[in-house]
Amino acid sequence: MRHLLSAADLTVAQAVGILDTAAAMAATQERQIKKLPTLRGRTVVNLFFEDSTRTRISFETAAKRLSADVINFSAKGSSVSKGESLKDTALTLQAMGADAVVVRHPASGAPHTLAHSGWLHGAVLNAGDGTHQHPTQALLDAYTLRRHLVGLRGGVDPTGRTLDGLHVAIVGDVLHSRVARSNVDLLHTLGARVTLVAPPTLVPVGIHAWPCAVSYHLDAVLAERPDAVMMLRVQRERMSGAGGGFFPSALEYSRGYGLDARRLALLEKHAVVMHPGPMNRGLEISADAADGASSVIVEQVANGVAVRMAVLYLLLSGEERRPDDEARVDA
Ligand code: CP
Repeated sequence: MRHLLSAADLTVAQAVGILDTAAAMAATQERQIKKLPTLRGRTVVNLFFEDSTRTRISFETAAKRLSADVINFSAKGSSVSKGESLKDTALTLQAMGADAVVVRHPASGAPHTLAHSGWLHGAVLNAGDGTHQHPTQALLDAYTLRRHLVGLRGGVDPTGRTLDGLHVAIVGDVLHSRVARSNVDLLHTLGARVTLVAPPTLVPVGIHAWPCAVSYHLDAVLAERPDAVMMLRVQRERMSGAGGGFFPSALEYSRGYGLDARRLALLEKHAVVMHPGPMNRGLEISADAADGASSVIVEQVANGVAVRMAVLYLLLSGEERRPDDEARVDA
């Protein structure tokens, strides 16, 4: 694996390998001293052309925990605001000796362009591009699902295991969601069954070719007793750009597609509630659901660090060794 551009590019073996490596990384983070020497002397650039809280901070934390040098580049306040092109920005990063570029961009396909243009020699990691892909979000979601539903519930070590047989409902603004697209790809690869739930206006054209079921009725899908319910953010900033009108009112959206206390009570005891963040509390998810005992939303954020450590490690070390191997060599 040279780049991580799309969850759809991952084979079962690669995806399970990343989850297993993330578990090993998470174990190192239980120690008093969390820093590993693994990527000492390597430079990771966080190149963010779009706002982010979780992804940017967690990639930065992951790179620093692996002892990489980290450069944070935000389009705001850079020469991008003076009209500098993606190519010239990339050439500048190459001149700085970037070994890996983590890129978030509003244009679908921008990470692919960076990876295949020849402007950069290092690895490119997609941190979310337009409405296309967000592969590390899907990986951290899969990691969280595996920990809760394969490992703990089954009382077994989840290492080496897929998500075979799980049913995951993904609910909300599928049309604008790179999280939904990435999760459908990865969950399908890992053997889970996915049902997308959305109002007809928020279902993308061509969805019936995706490897998942589609429903317009949340209560009917909850009656199927899914193992996990992943709520999606209503992306109002993308809707206003398109002139709005995707649903009549916030209240009607909540009544039809929000996860509230009544719907929460319909879930199986073992089922988990997920959300990639940022959340619109009171719109797609109520406080009862976001903060309740079934919620793993904060844990998703924590797991993002271990998953991004694993991805950086696997891409920059070029081989699938345990993180402690190098720590022992360096000691
Ligand atoms: N889940 C996610 O991508 O969050 P941020 O936009 O805060 O990075």
